[in-house]
Amino acid sequence: MYRILKAEKLADKIYLMDVEAPRVAKRCQPGEFVIVKTDEVGERIPLTICDFDREKGIVTIVFQIVGASTLKMSLLKEGDAFQDFVGPLGQPSEFVKDDLEDVKKRKYLFVAGGVGTAPVYPQVKWMHEHGIAADVIIGAKNKDLVLLEDEMKAVAGNLYVTTDDGSYVRKGMVTDVVKDLVENQGKKYDVCVAIGPMIMMKFVCKLTKELNIPTIVSMNPIMVDGTGMCGACRLNVGGQIKFACVDGPEFDGHLINFDEAMKRQQMYKTEEGRAMLKAQEGLTHHGGCGHCGGDN
Ligand code: NAD
Ligand code: FES
Repeated sequence: MYRILKAEKLADKIYLMDVEAPRVAKRCQPGEFVIVKTDEVGERIPLTICDFDREKGIVTIVFQIVGASTLKMSLLKEGDAFQDFVGPLGQPSEFVKDDLEDVKKRKYLFVAGGVGTAPVYPQVKWMHEHGIAADVIIGAKNKDLVLLEDEMKAVAGNLYVTTDDGSYVRKGMVTDVVKDLVENQGKKYDVCVAIGPMIMMKFVCKLTKELNIPTIVSMNPIMVDGTGMCGACRLNVGGQIKFACVDGPEFDGHLINFDEAMKRQQMYKTEEGRAMLKAQEGLTHHGGCGHCGGDN
């Protein structure tokens, strides 16, 4: 069992939990995710890691209530425990694997949308710990939904906050801020990392393509079981079939067809849609899962 050391409501339907998971904390890196299960019969929920403390053996997760399983999770309190807390899974962010001197030469822009701010935080923190001052944009629907602002301010080079309704700092979408920074303020970026709702990542990528800024996105939202078995997160990345939970969740955003991915995500939600995908794609699970012989 994995004890919850802190349970905090950050905003409407959004919760933060510190979980005692020393083995996960010891090995996890920015970009990776965990799978949590509230009890024996609970659904497996893949969640990107928000923070970790290797010394204390704590992993921090942030989640939004989107269905029965996350609702059940939100009812857990400090002192309760998760049945399962498996990880770290997926691939770490690209910069973690790159040569540090090369990473230091690049100017990074992080774009965090809504709950996507949680997985952006450990990446910016990693940059800060390695002496790199990254620019960060946080976008939220309104003031109450701006997450982790103080935490992000402490590790970002510059932090820009924007709200859709203008209730805090400035009015507009994250794309308005990207445009403003590059076109009006003369900022130059070598890499953009955009994490948030699919529609946000789609429009950030459309803009950064025009601005010629290579962009990484996290396809965490299309994951279901997070193990390579269900086939839900199958993606066409520049003509190659990839699975977000095994090969990602981070990919080159300019190679992703977001309209196709969002359509597939909708289809996967219904039994009829899943049957249709099976007819079109065959058994869609990941061939290298090691459990089933695989098919590709
Ligand atoms: P939201 O709908 O409040 O959007 C956040 C911000 O994204 C907005 O404030 C806006 O600035 C920007 N945005 C939205 N639509 C846009 C558009 N058309 N053009 C430009 N910018 C746009 O976000 P939310 O409700 O917190 O999002 C929840 C979603 O985030 C869920 O679907 C969840 O799956 C996803 N999520 C993604 C990740 C990931 O790893 N990519 C992680 C956690 C959550
Ligand atoms: Fe099921 Fe990736 S989430 S195969």
